[in-house]
Amino acid sequence: MSSLPAMPQLAVPQMPALPSSGFRLSKEHFLVAVPVAVVAAVGGFLVSHYLSGRSCKKSQVNTCISKDSPKVVHSFDMEDIGTKAVYCRCWKSKKFPYCDGAHTKHNEETGDNVGPLIIKKKDT
Ligand code: FES
Repeated sequence: MSSLPAMPQLAVPQMPALPSSGFRLSKEHFLVAVPVAVVAAVGGFLVSHYLSGRSCKKSQVNTCISKDSPKVVHSFDMEDIGTKAVYCRCWKSKKFPYCDGAHTKHNEETGDNVGPLIIKKKDT
């Protein structure tokens, strides 16, 4: 009687036991995850701090008008304005509080878009 040749035994790797529940971190994963999380948090903070600084700089608007005064205030009576008054809002006018057109040069040099406040009586 003939018999079949013996089949070679295949080595079947053992499957690691799955954790029964929850998420587990090994010590090696933890040692990598913590520095990555810290770097990500610090990087995020620095990027947001940089971007917020770019959008709104804390600097003085008034660079030269009545700097010895704690607050620059002008008041006008409506009756004294006449038919039209043009007031500076860029703080660059040599005739402040009136506009002398200095905002045009300021806008060209800085890329800003400031302009005057114009108050006038309605055309009837
Ligand atoms: S000069 Fe300042 S708004 Fe015109």
